[in-house]
Formats: sequence, C-alpha cells, structure tokens
Amino acid sequence: MAGDDQRQGGVDSGDRVEPPPSFVEQANVTDADVRARFEGDWPDCWAAAADLLDWETDYDAVLGGERPPFRWFDGGRLNACHNCVDRHLGDRKNQVALTWEGRLGESRTYSYLDLHREVNEFAAALRDLGVAEDDVVTLYMPVVPELVVAMLACARIGAPHSVVFAGFSADALATRMAAADSTYLVTCDGYYRRGAPVHQKNKADNAAIALDDDVEATVVVDRLGDDAPLGDDEYDYEDLVTEYRGATVDPVPRASTDQLFLIHTSGTTGEPTGVRHTTGGYLAHAAWTSRAVLDLEPEDTHWCSADIGWITGHTYTVYGPLAVGATTMLYEGTPDHPEKDRVWELIERNAVDVFYTAPTAVRAFMKWGEQYPEAHDLSSLRLLGTVGEPINPRAWKWYHEHIGGGDCPVVDTWWQTETGGMMVTTLPGVDTMKPGSAGPPLPGVDARVVDAAGDPVDPGETGFLVLTRPWPGMPLSMVEDDGWFADHDPARPDLSGFEWAYGTEDGATVDEDGYVTLLGRVDDVVNVSGRRFATMEIEAAIADVEGVAEAAVVSGPHDLKGRAIYAYVSAAEDAAEADLREDVADAVADAIGPVAEPDVVVFTPELPKTRSGKIMRRLLEAVASGEDLGDTSALRNPEVVGELESALADRDR
Ligand code: PRX
Repeated sequence: MAGDDQRQGGVDSGDRVEPPPSFVEQANVTDADVRARFEGDWPDCWAAAADLLDWETDYDAVLGGERPPFRWFDGGRLNACHNCVDRHLGDRKNQVALTWEGRLGESRTYSYLDLHREVNEFAAALRDLGVAEDDVVTLYMPVVPELVVAMLACARIGAPHSVVFAGFSADALATRMAAADSTYLVTCDGYYRRGAPVHQKNKADNAAIALDDDVEATVVVDRLGDDAPLGDDEYDYEDLVTEYRGATVDPVPRASTDQLFLIHTSGTTGEPTGVRHTTGGYLAHAAWTSRAVLDLEPEDTHWCSADIGWITGHTYTVYGPLAVGATTMLYEGTPDHPEKDRVWELIERNAVDVFYTAPTAVRAFMKWGEQYPEAHDLSSLRLLGTVGEPINPRAWKWYHEHIGGGDCPVVDTWWQTETGGMMVTTLPGVDTMKPGSAGPPLPGVDARVVDAAGDPVDPGETGFLVLTRPWPGMPLSMVEDDGWFADHDPARPDLSGFEWAYGTEDGATVDEDGYVTLLGRVDDVVNVSGRRFATMEIEAAIADVEGVAEAAVVSGPHDLKGRAIYAYVSAAEDAAEADLREDVADAVADAIGPVAEPDVVVFTPELPKTRSGKIMRRLLEAVASGEDLGDTSALRNPEVVGELESALADRDR
C-alpha cells in the first residue's frame, strides 16, 4: 500500500508536536471539548456549519425526516454564489476576493465588488445563451479567474457545473460531457505550459466532433491573446461580458439538497464516475472546515495549490475560502518555473497566511533544497496543510521547520472527491500533531478502521477506513441512497453490522489516541501526485494500441510522487518494443491526458496469471515495489516472474 515505503524509513514517526501558543491564541476553534460536544449533539451539531451561511429560507431540520435519504438542512433554501460573493459586499466589497498569478508572470486581482460584477454579467450571458436551471455547464480551462467566475455564474443561476481538468484529452472531455448530458461548454483558446502554448480549443473542437456537434454553445476565453476566429454557436468570453456590462441576475434560491456541481473521478470501473455535490450540505461543510481546519478569517490570503479541475480546488480554492469571505489566491503556473523559488516568491509577495498543498510538492521542495525558501520572507504564513496522499514524517518535519519556521501547525487532511470536504484531520488550534498521521476524525464525523469482518482493529493493526455516519458534504448519490454503494463501492469489509456505512477504499491504522494513519488505496485506484486515476481506464487505453496483446496497470513506489503508474505490457509477436513504448504513451495521453501516462512501462512476454486465467496484480505490485513476492504457487506461468524482475532491473540500470 502507498506510503509504507516512505514511512518505514521515517524519522521519529512516534513524535508529537503541539500547536504553538501564538497560533492557539488566535485560532477559530480552540475548544478542547469540541469533539465531545459534537458527539453529544449529533446531528444537530452540524448547525454550527450551516450557521456560517446565509439562508434564503431557514432549514426545518439539520438532518431531515425519515432517513435515508439524508437531507442535510432539510427545507432550507440558499444560493451558493450569493454566499460566496453578494453577502460580502456589505462590509468588504473592496477587499480582494481573488488574486491570480499567471503563468507568464502576470497578475490580476478581483475585489468582491469586481467579482460580483463579472459573475453577474456572465450569468446573464449564460442565461441568454439558453442555459436554464439544472442544465449542466462544462468548464474546461486552466487556473484562470474566468474559471472561478464561470463556476459562480453557474451557481448563481442554479446550473450545475462540471469542471473538466484542462490537461485531459478531447476524448476524456467528450466522455464527461456525454455522461453528464452537458451541451454547454466554457473553454479557452489555449494556455501556456512551461512557456509553450497548448491549444485547448483544438481539443474542445475534437470533443465536439466526437459528440456529433451536440454542443449548443461554446464560450471561449482568449488566454493566448491571438483572437482566433470563432465558429457558429461560439462566443468570445470578453465580448459577452462587455455586451452584458452592468447586467444583474438575482441568485436563484436552491433547495439545500439541490445539486451545486458534479465532478468526475476515477472509480474502480473503466468509466469515470460523476460525483454530484449538494448546495447546502456541501457548502456548509466547505465553510466549516475552512474556518475550523484552515483557520481562515476574512482578512486572510489563502493559497490552495491544487488545480481547480480536482475536488481540492473546488472546495478549498473556490467555495470554502469565498464562503468565509477570505482572499483566495490562484496560481496558473508550475512551482519551478521560472525558478525553483517561485512558490516562496509568491507567498512573500502576496503575504499568504495559509498554504495548502500536496505531499508530492513538499517532497519536491525538500529535494530542491532549503536555500530557495530561505531566500524569502515567509513570516506571513500562519498555517500549513497537505492533502491527497500520505505525507511521510520526514517531509512533514521539513515542511514544518523550513516553510513554517517551526511555528505554523501542519494539518494533514484526509478526504476524497466523494466526501466533498475534509474528514480526518487535526484541528490546528486544539490537537497535538503526529507527523505521518492525519489525526482523529473531524468533530461530528465517525470514521473507523475495521477488519474484513467489520470489527474495529486493535491499535496499530492494519484495516479499512470506513465512515459510519452521514456528513453534510456527502454526495447526492449517498443522500438519495440510490444504490450507489452497490454499484460503486465494493465495500471489502463486511459493513452489514452498521446501520449505515461508506467504505472509503483506503487502508489505515489507528493508534491508542484515535489518530488515523492512511496507508493508501486498497482498490484499483491509484493516486499519483495527489491525482486520482483508475488503473482499468489506463489499461483500456493501452489495450487499444495495435501490437499490444495485453496490459496490466498497477501502482508502485516513487520517491517524489509517492506512487507511480507501472504498466506491464505484453506485445504481439511482430510488434517492435521501441515503437510500442511511444504508442502506449500516446494512447494514454489521447484517452485521458498526459497526466495519466505511465511512469514505467515494462514489456513482458506474458502477464502472470492464475490457473483460472486472472492476472495476478498483487504480484505485479510486489515486483514494482521490489518486495517479497509471497506465495506464487497459484501461478500458471511462474517463469514469467523472473523475466519481469529482470526487465525492471534492466530499466533501473
Ligand atoms: O487514498 C486517499 C488519498 O486520496 C484519495 C482520494 O482522492 P481524490 O478523490 O482525488 O481526492 C483527493 C483530495 C481530497 C483517498 O482515498 N488521500 C487524500 N488525502 C489524503 C490521502 N491519503 C493520505 N493522507 C491524506 N491526507
């Protein structure tokens, strides 16, 4: 499982670090009894989250009626855009809502008033293009302010958005649009990647062709500045907001359980799953965790470095920080361009208070060396966070010391696309931190580590992390309890003893203090650099390559990324390996995007199979990690093991 390799060599993993008094004094949550209080008052405790929002109609019950369905804040109506923008106009209309740092060194800021104006204009434009309440609008852009404006404009008119990561391919875009039944697209002409333009619009055009041109309107943001000609039903973003200058659109009140957005993620099947999030529960969860865990106050500048195309960017770049009225920073570029001190230069220049990133990034910073952060004044930082994968104690400590100067708490936050917001983490103003361990469940969350029979494991024993109670940020399929579990959750452990439970598909241990340490996925999903892919999806792309007889994809260790994608490919007799290697990479890039390209491709005459013909993935994982292969007696073709090992060893040389 992920993280083991890194944890084994970990320095002092038994360490405890107390939050510094200077932090605790000013923290939003300092009440040591908060967990007990929430526990004693569940589910009503979650009113604390809902009360952070403005409700157009008050809810009747924190968790409504007969359950399931799990109707959080039942009867309440609200608008997410109103909550993230309009309601801040009263006392901080001139405060910066959004500050953007572009890839070419440009920057732009939007006050709450600016954001309000442009969101209204774009919402008016979308409406006139025909977007009605509940129509899904696909957004396919890099991290530019227009993406946030478009998300909020959709929220304003009650049209769920579906953000597709800009690095995904035309095919991936088309699949996601078709799956969501989405016929409206907002994209851009292109963007810069390491200084070179990527032609995003070409990908969007190819997706439209794949969709038989079933796209009613496409709005194009001119990011490259080259005024590319537009076709029928295509509109320039800037022209639209100019045309609708000064227009206003009343925020549409939505039921708490109405859909705010959907986002596709990789499940264990070959098809991406659309996870639909609610308006009230999701936003309350986002706002509450932004205050309690990220400790955000309106005067703070928060930088979540995740791309908005992933759930982390949705919740902690856009909805959470804006709901609490803070300044959110957007960065389009990479951390080492133009120089390896880019991140520290941005933190210094923007006086960032809270920085939230992936452990992969921390490990890269660590490798580059402390001379880069040392050259900058990072004293504005108050809190650091990580998300997306386990952080090994050595990287945690480096982050704490060299970036946080030893006096910023570090929150290691565990959650998933499905949970909408953070679920397992220390509260920075309350809890002792243990490097390498995410911490106890959030107040009000019931997370347990159980064995295959569904019984709690002893401290230190490995088990499955399960969530045994609903939470406000739960997705609509769980709210509705529409059989989603049966379809999407193999729920390895037997959860029938719980009244309700969700198997997270993560392995974990828990210690005597109830701190959960995550060990990685137990299903066929791989998290690379905090991004999530299904091995089956990658396999399907490779299997389509001419000359490939069979392919199996597993995850293996990687020093920087935590996990890497390993593809084992057996070629048809007459295929040349060198050509195939390139074709394999291209096929994955075309089907999903370059981000999913395997890190390692191993050619093998055959894949290891059991006598019943099943590929033995456990063995491929063990070969990738250089671990003991265990019992191979069930193999039909044991001779292939030696070949695999030597193929990998050759590669290492
Ligand atoms: O394996 C866990 C890992 O990321 C998975 C969820 O991926 P995704 O839905 O893309 O969401 C990522 C950002 C919320 C989980 O099943 N994961 C997430 N956070 C952590 C983590 N693993 C260890 N420690 C974490 N803090």
